[in-house]
Amino acid sequence: MKTIRDASLMQQDAEAARLRGSRLALVPTMGALHDGHVALLRAARERADLVILSVFVNPTQFGKGEDYERYPRDIDRDSAIARDAGADVLFVPSNEQMYEKGFQSFVTVEKLSAPFEGESRPGHFQGVATVVAKLLNITKPHLAVFGQKDAQQAVVVRRMIRDLNFDVELLIVPTVREADGLAMSSRNAYLSPRERGEAAVLSASLRKAEELIRSGERRVDAVVGAMRGMISLSSSGAIDYIAIADADSLARLEHLQTGQDILVALAVRFGKTRLIDNIQITT
Ligand code: PAJ
Repeated sequence: MKTIRDASLMQQDAEAARLRGSRLALVPTMGALHDGHVALLRAARERADLVILSVFVNPTQFGKGEDYERYPRDIDRDSAIARDAGADVLFVPSNEQMYEKGFQSFVTVEKLSAPFEGESRPGHFQGVATVVAKLLNITKPHLAVFGQKDAQQAVVVRRMIRDLNFDVELLIVPTVREADGLAMSSRNAYLSPRERGEAAVLSASLRKAEELIRSGERRVDAVVGAMRGMISLSSSGAIDYIAIADADSLARLEHLQTGQDILVALAVRFGKTRLIDNIQITT
């Protein structure tokens, strides 16, 4: 595995690989790699000749007072995990490489960025869309691999790819979970042992929602109410939002119909740690 820190060198390498006829895949991450990221790398490995993993803690997608400074960073550990998972290139740009002095161009995916995460984290998806656009231009992949864990991010990136004619295929990999159901996340490391125990209720509440919907519940209020009840009964988590939306348009739904692709998504704070999770269901 080769490590590249310079954006122009990365572009040259990617171009040379393309000219050799290789199929390139990009797995963009912020590092602190876990088995969720490894699943993305493996999916990329199965579908491409050259797998590029980017590790960049992107400052523009963090709001004021969020965890940019304390976000876990350990490039040696990430590098070992990336190598074991079969990455060919580790792209680790600096802030200066990504946002040079005078930087002023941003990508905004307007409507899809507004609800849910966008409401709680203004500017977040502009930072994500901008950095993903840059990473696609720098690494020139045929395939870009993202996780279902960040469902709204996947929808925003899909829209950006279509709207701006990025010549790249998008693959979304199912959420990888801990044994008790908690979705793997670099932010789980912030949880105290007590919070970590309680956090299992998030995925349990999503499973409950699925069960209710599968057994015919069509009232969104009833499903969300049951989830709220479960979370507040068995945890100290403060619910930021629980929402049921159309999986493609992200339009909030009040009443479900049969045959709809829906997203049940939530964000809950445990102390200073904000966790998100979701499931996608066809009703
Ligand atoms: P990060 O949180 O590091 O996640 C990188 C990728 O891993 C994302 O596509 C995310 O959805 C996926 N992922 C995280 N946890 C996962 C899990 N438990 N199972 C499956 N996939 C999982 O998302 C970002 O970084 C950034 O916003 C980024 C796209 C890199 C732009 O800065």
